[in-house]
Amino acid sequence: MCGIVGACRADNGVRQILLRGLTTLEYRGYDSAGLAFVGDKNVQRLAVAGRVAKLRQITKITDGSTGIGHTRWATHGAPDEHNAHPIAVGQVALAHNGIIENHAELRRELTDAGRVFHTDTDSEVAAHLLDMALADGDDFLTAMRRTAAKLHGAYALVAVAAGNNSIAFARDGSPLMAGTDNKNGFFVASDAQALNGIAHRALYVEDRHCGLISTAGITLVTTDGETAAQNWQPLPSGSETVLLGEHRHFMEKEIFEQPDAIAAALQHHLPKHQLSLRHFGNGATSLFKRTRQVVIIACGTSYHAALIATYWLRNFGIPCRAAIASEYRYCPDKLAAGVLAVGVSQSGETADTLSAMRTAKSAGATTVALVNVPHSAMAREADLLMLACAGTEIGVAATKSFTAQLTQLLILTLALTKARNVLAPAQEEDTLMQLRQLPYLMRRALLIEDDIRRWARVFAGADSALFIGRHTHYPLALEGALKLKEISYIHAEGCAAGELKHGTLALVDKRVPIVGLAPDNELLPKITSNLAEVAARDGRLFVLAGEKFDMPATDTLRLQDGGNFLSPLIYAVPLQLLAYHTALQKGTDIDKPRNLAKSVTVE
Ligand code: F6R
Repeated sequence: MCGIVGACRADNGVRQILLRGLTTLEYRGYDSAGLAFVGDKNVQRLAVAGRVAKLRQITKITDGSTGIGHTRWATHGAPDEHNAHPIAVGQVALAHNGIIENHAELRRELTDAGRVFHTDTDSEVAAHLLDMALADGDDFLTAMRRTAAKLHGAYALVAVAAGNNSIAFARDGSPLMAGTDNKNGFFVASDAQALNGIAHRALYVEDRHCGLISTAGITLVTTDGETAAQNWQPLPSGSETVLLGEHRHFMEKEIFEQPDAIAAALQHHLPKHQLSLRHFGNGATSLFKRTRQVVIIACGTSYHAALIATYWLRNFGIPCRAAIASEYRYCPDKLAAGVLAVGVSQSGETADTLSAMRTAKSAGATTVALVNVPHSAMAREADLLMLACAGTEIGVAATKSFTAQLTQLLILTLALTKARNVLAPAQEEDTLMQLRQLPYLMRRALLIEDDIRRWARVFAGADSALFIGRHTHYPLALEGALKLKEISYIHAEGCAAGELKHGTLALVDKRVPIVGLAPDNELLPKITSNLAEVAARDGRLFVLAGEKFDMPATDTLRLQDGGNFLSPLIYAVPLQLLAYHTALQKGTDIDKPRNLAKSVTVE
């Protein structure tokens, strides 16, 4: 979603830093981009609808020693040049991530006060408030504080003002950080990646804090004006520069990285391949012992990982449920002591998950963040942190982060079970043995790519597709459908196989390709019957199965899945490949599908 970067440097122009930062943030998803530089008498704003490459073209001869840049993912107002940020009003230019919920009311008040609006955005009210405060004689920081105090909703704001070589910023609810090169360069950004290789230390701005950077340093205050403590941390350098290498798309690269990513995650969390509760940090053993119930909170693909984990936890007798974060926020549990709230998120910044975690925490739960981005907001706020260790994921469609989350959720399941003394040593050894096989089994699953390409030709010609499965393969059917629709734009539905005859079966005819998930487990006879019901109605079946599935004349691809627990991780691979190859045939923008963003920082 929207990205922010800002820079002040004494000795040089900042255009390259801003453009480089915005390019790094491109993967988050956006539809317009802009820059603003401080001049003596005005601010110079340049913006485009479309890509940062276009912005680079039109800003070739513009530069300055203080400037801000933004990539906008439209929420209020069309994704065109005039709604792009930074928004210039009077003597200021302002960029905003988040949503200002009271914008309509503020717009009315400001219009009554004679202000004329030029964009359809919710953000423009903040630019007017800031410009008015400066016109009233406030210094830049006070003007930003007064502006922030009037806003309801979520925001990270950065702004520049004519004749003032500094950047004012404010945060409430949307990520924002400051950075320095330890010399005379100070920066702001919505994501550490934008400052990769530029800043050596970082300060994560807290909610309801404001500040000012200039080449002289940084001032940080609360929105009430109290001086705030500055907690600087080293910014890990060389956080990898992610290159496509031999691959056509990041999604393809990330699908194929899964065996290595999982191997690295296992090495990190199960050194010597042993399950040690101490590895979870101080107090984890007693925390896990006290845990009476687990609620796993997430969105999208991460929610599907959460749903799969509930089958594992229940299998070991641990009461649990998975909750969609955006629903949980407004209908939380009446929590009592002993609840472990696990937030699962690739980015660790998803607004709904972050808020739902805060809701759970304030109701008394202990929170665990299972995230892929180490310094993300969820990682910083949770009581306990588990890293997915998947490596940077650029493609908007989550792939390797999904299987890495599942790996960690399985390890967490074992840890909880072990702490409660209900994990038999033989079962622990058996599950760990399955886990050790995982990278090898994933490599084997990748080998069916050619057959999947053949399937994809059929799917690319369809208007609609179904995915069906049972038990842990039901959430996986949901995931297969989500992957297909988000990057190929084909309507797709995932369905619990037993539910088919309660409605969805009416959709089945020979034009609708149907993926059946039929692993070798105790439910194989049941899913086989469900698939027979589909075949009897002319449904065109494409089945992913183990060795035992037997339905003559059915297009079946065989997978070796290594046992009940690992099965959904292995079956995820061909589903990702199917979505990828279908989208490839349709020629869509695979890594940046329309309307979607990698990091969803608005509700
Ligand atoms: C789908 C996808 C999204 C995300 C969802 C949550 O491929 O990527 O559905 O899973 O937006 O994002 P995170 O995991 O960052 O909280």
